[in-house]
Amino acid sequence: MQVIAIDGPAGSGKSTVGRALAERLGLQYLDTGAMYRGVAFAALRRGVDPADADPVAHLLATLELEVADRTVTVDGVDATIEIRGPEVTRSVSTVAANPAVRAELRSRQREWAERHGGGVIEGRDIGSVVFPDADLKVYLTASPEVRAARRTKEVADLDYETVARDIARRDALDQGREDSPLREAEGSVVVDTSDRSIDEIVDELLRLLAEAVGGSGT
Ligand code: DC
Repeated sequence: MQVIAIDGPAGSGKSTVGRALAERLGLQYLDTGAMYRGVAFAALRRGVDPADADPVAHLLATLELEVADRTVTVDGVDATIEIRGPEVTRSVSTVAANPAVRAELRSRQREWAERHGGGVIEGRDIGSVVFPDADLKVYLTASPEVRAARRTKEVADLDYETVARDIARRDALDQGREDSPLREAEGSVVVDTSDRSIDEIVDELLRLLAEAVGGSGT
């Protein structure tokens, strides 16, 4: 099973690069941030405070979470649009700091990879914690300005300043939490995506993967 782990902060290009790489390799792609967003969505929908660790963990235990290529379904409800909305975005870092939530989603992510024969998997702790033995570990970065500009384009109704503030707040929470904080995994290749095209980055990653796989003799 071949696993490519892609980590990095919001707006660093993980989804765009990850999807393109998966396509080139004929692998499935998994956005693990969408899983955390799905849990935050479920909590809000059921009137559970996202900061209440035990009730959130409890609801996740029986939650049906389906992250397909472009759609996210939570207990049979299509949540694709809402998980990207401001309410979920505001509360998702709190949900992601909950160790019981992380343990459950880690195990679902590993099951997903087993079921799909590997894949390109993106998030914050994929190379460091979930798949430390991935065939290739990538850490994407970009300047805060570029990241905020990218996200502003994606979300229709928020201005640059608001998005930039939200990204800075989430960076601090994701990097500062105790359980599997966002950081460069050991052995990961760091790529700054600020001034490079997707094709260029994907080509470089394919080359590095070929080297890594060839180098390990597998
Ligand atoms: O990539 P994103 O913005 O959709 O991620 C949403 C949140 O989920 C983000 O603030 C950090 C968290 N997350 C995480 O803690 N671990 C992951 N593997 C993926 C996302």
